[in-house]
Amino acid sequence: MANASTILSLLLCFSLISATPTTLRPHLTTTHPPSTAQAPPPPTTYFEVTKPIQLPNTKPCTTHVLQHDFAFTYNKPPVTAQYTPPSTCSSHHFDKIVLEWSATSKGRQFDRIFGVWLGGVELLRSCTAEPRPIGIEWTVKKDVSRYYSLFMKNQTLAVYLGNLIDTTYTGVYHVNVSFHFYPAQNKKILNDQWADLIIPVSRNLPLNDGLWFKIENSSDVQSKQVMIPQNAYRVVLEVYVSFHENDEFWPTNVANEYISDNNLTGFAGNGPFREVVVSLDGGEVGAVWPFTVVYTGGVNPLLWRPVTGIGSFDLPTYDIEITPFLGTILNGKSHDFGFRVTNALNVWYIDANLHVWLDEKSEKTHGKVLTQSVSPLHVSLVSNYAGLNGTFVTNVTRSIKSTGWVQSSFGKIVTESTQEFNYSNIMVMGKDGGLQIVDQMIEFNDSVSAKQPSFVNLKQSLKSFSFYIYSDTEDKGNGSFAQIANITLGFNENKIVNSGAKSSSSFLENIQNGQGTMLVKGNLVVSGLGSTQQTYNYGDSKFCYFRDISSSNYTIIYDKEGHTCGKSKKSRFNSAIL
Ligand SMILES: *[C@@H]1O[C@H](CO)[C@@H](O)[C@H](O)[C@H]1NC(C)=O
Ligand SMILES: *[C@@H]1O[C@H](CO)[C@@H](O)[C@H](O)[C@H]1NC(C)=O
Ligand SMILES: *[C@@H]1O[C@H](CO)[C@@H](O)[C@H](O)[C@H]1NC(C)=O
Ligand SMILES: *[C@@H]1O[C@H](CO)[C@@H](O)[C@H](O)[C@H]1NC(C)=O
Ligand SMILES: *[C@@H]1O[C@H](CO)[C@@H](O)[C@H](O)[C@H]1NC(C)=O
Ligand SMILES: *[C@@H]1O[C@H](CO)[C@@H](O)[C@H](O)[C@H]1NC(C)=O
Ligand SMILES: *[C@@H]1O[C@H](CO)[C@@H](O)[C@H](O)[C@H]1NC(C)=O
Ligand SMILES: *[C@@H]1O[C@H](CO)[C@@H](O)[C@H](O)[C@H]1NC(C)=O
Ligand SMILES: *[C@@H]1O[C@H](CO)[C@@H](O)[C@H](O)[C@H]1NC(C)=O
Ligand SMILES: *[C@@H]1O[C@H](CO)[C@@H](O)[C@H](O)[C@H]1NC(C)=O
Ligand SMILES: *[C@@H]1O[C@H](CO)[C@@H](O)[C@H](O)[C@H]1NC(C)=O
Repeated sequence: MANASTILSLLLCFSLISATPTTLRPHLTTTHPPSTAQAPPPPTTYFEVTKPIQLPNTKPCTTHVLQHDFAFTYNKPPVTAQYTPPSTCSSHHFDKIVLEWSATSKGRQFDRIFGVWLGGVELLRSCTAEPRPIGIEWTVKKDVSRYYSLFMKNQTLAVYLGNLIDTTYTGVYHVNVSFHFYPAQNKKILNDQWADLIIPVSRNLPLNDGLWFKIENSSDVQSKQVMIPQNAYRVVLEVYVSFHENDEFWPTNVANEYISDNNLTGFAGNGPFREVVVSLDGGEVGAVWPFTVVYTGGVNPLLWRPVTGIGSFDLPTYDIEITPFLGTILNGKSHDFGFRVTNALNVWYIDANLHVWLDEKSEKTHGKVLTQSVSPLHVSLVSNYAGLNGTFVTNVTRSIKSTGWVQSSFGKIVTESTQEFNYSNIMVMGKDGGLQIVDQMIEFNDSVSAKQPSFVNLKQSLKSFSFYIYSDTEDKGNGSFAQIANITLGFNENKIVNSGAKSSSSFLENIQNGQGTMLVKGNLVVSGLGSTQQTYNYGDSKFCYFRDISSSNYTIIYDKEGHTCGKSKKSRFNSAIL
């Protein structure tokens, strides 16, 4: 009985990275039958389902900036390369800039988290695909146009991908990183929607790790002093976040009383609620209730072959409006941007980028904070358990609201930023700890308005993140266990942007269901089966994309793709937002 529970929690802890070579945490990858085929089979192509990037009809200029084989790179300095802006392009104005990561690997290896930074600014947080003996390949394309100003100067590119190689874990990651620059179709229109300056809030090179900060517990605050130019009129903080080891599956973490009452070891604790809190000079200015990304080795690695989990190849980032606080940071002095994680267990990787818009027509802007209110976390907990069986309900709400004005050559603009969060997690433990069912929902309302007597600009994003897992684990008593797991991940977002007379809106509904079985010995999956079904629906006023896809046992069962906007989706969106 104690064994079964330990196994369950080990299973749910099978985490990435951050393992030192001597204390490699148990973690899942697969064993493979010897190949009997004559001609070598083609490598498997892994991919994350997402909408294609909308590209202008111009020929891109491509800069191949890095080629590297990531073998034993754990705890080594990031791999760096010098970046220079494209000089031979037909135009020096671009409508789109796209980062392309392409990689191959062969053998056996864990899912490794990695980051790509340009001038200390993180451009991509991602997870590698787990290789097979016949080889795999995958490509990640990300629209990085919002970092435009960064690409106009010489910079150092840094990639940290901590990999370990030994006789069991043989997969080396062979990687290329390129940037594609799409010249502007209309050279007269300059893109002024992107920030003039991007300031990293990350650790500086040189270091033997990623440039992210590591948050190891709930009292750990990591911060950096940053100076904002005195003519800034708008600042947005973009937060990158990923969770590992004891918090890799934080929605399944159990209450500490449950652990102590049952003398359990091996279960990850602190309950299932996590919140990233961002502070400025010690005062809370915003929060992130993150989407529960499942990495490519998570729960059952067979689920994610070849269709990987939502967000696994391009982890979502979260924007926090700092403009209401400009009044306190335009004094030419350094200010402290800090991060902590409520209930954190070891370890969270967090860093951020400050997107700064500058007023070319003035040397100094000025401003004032008008209101700042952070509601305390409202937590309601209900638990009812006898021994290892029981039910736990955790509901949390919070709202953060700030207003402030900034005076620039554009006039006096009052910015109001509101974040509202709802969280609910229902956890059922059964079979004396061998069975765990978690049903979690996060609702996240971000809204920013900028007011002048003559206009109001409004940006609103409503997100809902769902996470469901049914995991039934049976100890086989010989160092192995069997697990059945069903999982559902949902990432939905409705966005609206009103600027002046222009109004645009978009919706995304992205749902993944998986069913997996496996037999695990040590930390290797000996046998098993994973099946995944995903529906992806995106729409905005100019562009729609849907994909309906299913995979099982490495094979695509069906794959429907199209560009029509679902009518029902549209009307649901209209009633929800407009
Ligand atoms: C990287 O680019 C080089 C040169 O174009 C190519 O030979 C190699 O196959 C590429 N590797 C991967 C993993 O794409
Ligand atoms: C950028 O790098 C290129 C190539 O190393 C060099 O020729 C150029 O002078 C650099 N530009 C600046 C502004 O440092
Ligand atoms: C939290 O983590 C920090 C950073 O590693 C460490 O200095 C501190 O002692 C830890 N605090 C607790 C209560 O464990
Ligand atoms: C846990 O350990 C304590 C102290 O060793 C013991 O009194 C108690 O009975 C144990 N509880 C369970 C559920 O095993
Ligand atoms: C927690 O939230 C769920 C979903 O909103 C709701 O059904 C339930 O009644 C709430 N429970 C408590 C104890 O607040
Ligand atoms: C826990 O539930 C299982 C069925 O899921 C049952 O067999 C077992 O007796 C229960 N244990 C306790 C201590 O109630
Ligand atoms: C989201 O927040 C905005 C600003 O507070 C509010 O007007 C809107 O009603 C909220 N929407 C939902 C669905 O909570
Ligand atoms: C949170 O729940 C409350 C009560 O159900 C609801 O009014 C509010 O709109 C929800 N907020 C978000 C962000 O969904
Ligand atoms: C472990 O024991 C189970 C049950 O007896 C058996 O089915 C399985 O084959 C064994 N697994 C290994 C890897 O020895
Ligand atoms: C798991 O998914 C399979 C296939 O959809 C379904 O037959 C089974 O009932 C599910 N089990 C649970 C406990 O949800
Ligand atoms: C999965 O596919 C392989 C062939 O690629 C086949 O040998 C195996 O039996 C399949 N497994 C299941 C459970 O269908």
